[in-house]
Amino acid sequence: MDLLSQIKQSPNISEYLACKKVVLAYSGGLDTSILLTLLQDLGMQVATVTVDLGQKEYAAQGMEQAKQKALKLGAITADVIEGKEEFVKDYVTPAVKANCLYQGVYPCSTALGRPLIVKYLVEAAHKIGADAIVHGSTGKGNDYLRFEVSVKALAPELKVLAPVRDWQLNRDEEIEYAFVKGISVPVKKGTGYSVDANLWGRSVCGGPIEIEDQEVPEDALDWVKPLLKTPDVAQILTLHFTHGILCGADLDGQKMPLVGAALIEELNRLCGKHGIGIIDHIEDRVIGLKSREYYECPAALVVIAAHADLEKVCLPRELNQLKSMMDQKFAEYAYGALWHSPVMDATNAFMDATQANVIGWVKVKLFKGAAHIIARKAPDGQYQRVRATYGKNSSFDQADSNGFGALYALSTKTARHPHWMADKSGK
Ligand code: ARG
Repeated sequence: MDLLSQIKQSPNISEYLACKKVVLAYSGGLDTSILLTLLQDLGMQVATVTVDLGQKEYAAQGMEQAKQKALKLGAITADVIEGKEEFVKDYVTPAVKANCLYQGVYPCSTALGRPLIVKYLVEAAHKIGADAIVHGSTGKGNDYLRFEVSVKALAPELKVLAPVRDWQLNRDEEIEYAFVKGISVPVKKGTGYSVDANLWGRSVCGGPIEIEDQEVPEDALDWVKPLLKTPDVAQILTLHFTHGILCGADLDGQKMPLVGAALIEELNRLCGKHGIGIIDHIEDRVIGLKSREYYECPAALVVIAAHADLEKVCLPRELNQLKSMMDQKFAEYAYGALWHSPVMDATNAFMDATQANVIGWVKVKLFKGAAHIIARKAPDGQYQRVRATYGKNSSFDQADSNGFGALYALSTKTARHPHWMADKSGK
């Protein structure tokens, strides 16, 4: 049976047939190109939206190619949206303030991109009066949840269709269908991997990455140089923050004349060149499935490490402790499809409230796969050298510690020795 007849027998096909006009999140790749034609074969008018969040794979001319390809395949409109600066300002920056690392390691690059893509999809849907938004995510990852929840949060009247999940398409069938329909199938380096990228990171999964007890082959890498090919000379990167926002950088003492998305892209290149940015871990997906995930996130890891370091200088101890718990919650919400939700709004408000004094710089030595923080300075920070010094002119009066020590020991002493009294008068 051919693919289309097979699809017409899928369980929720009536939902699809009820749609007249849809907006498709379109990358230009195989899956979404197939969807573009299949949806038309089912009688729908399809508008595509391709969002540039700095995914190098589709940079500049790639975006235009995606647009032309969509139009050629029959899209009624094919919008290409430049979303990089908005992504940095409204998604990456809050994530930096929150030192966002899911399970302590993953900067949520893919996770942060989805809610912004959905925002543009919803705008397009409203513009053309579409009934539904269609995306190409499977039902095994987290992305379908991010599409679903974000659409429902922004436009509850829109349906969300996930044909790759509903029709359980497989690659061989897709390639055969593409051949029949004359859809060009991109053959690129490292095929066999599923890649999603934006300027906050590149996620690679599938293929050899699934074999958890073997090292990931080098062809999975694109942004990060293998250690043997990294420079033999270290470079010193200074990152500047104001109110927790990355606002500039120097390299080996020279100002880098970049801000926003351009700065992040350059940091990816620079830190990647030094072999920094690989994350290899077994991840807990929202649905409970464990998967081996592989990422290249050079800029994200270095910027977050620097921000977290500076923040420790700038916040009082109790706030540092509370914030590290909140940081973890932020990462869980960002990862867990709750970007456009009240709990995230409240968490962001907390983060903003902590960043007023997070101003200063952090120096990082980039060398052979490591980004070592070697110095930092926060003019409004709470590190007071004159108090902390072990030298003889310390302004800290150690006499203050005497009574405090006795009191601080009281509960432990009492618990360990409940009947002990120095003068026995309490017995
Ligand atoms: N596991 C990551 C996440 O849920 C990345 C998913 C990336 N998708 C891909 N097609 N490689 O955010």
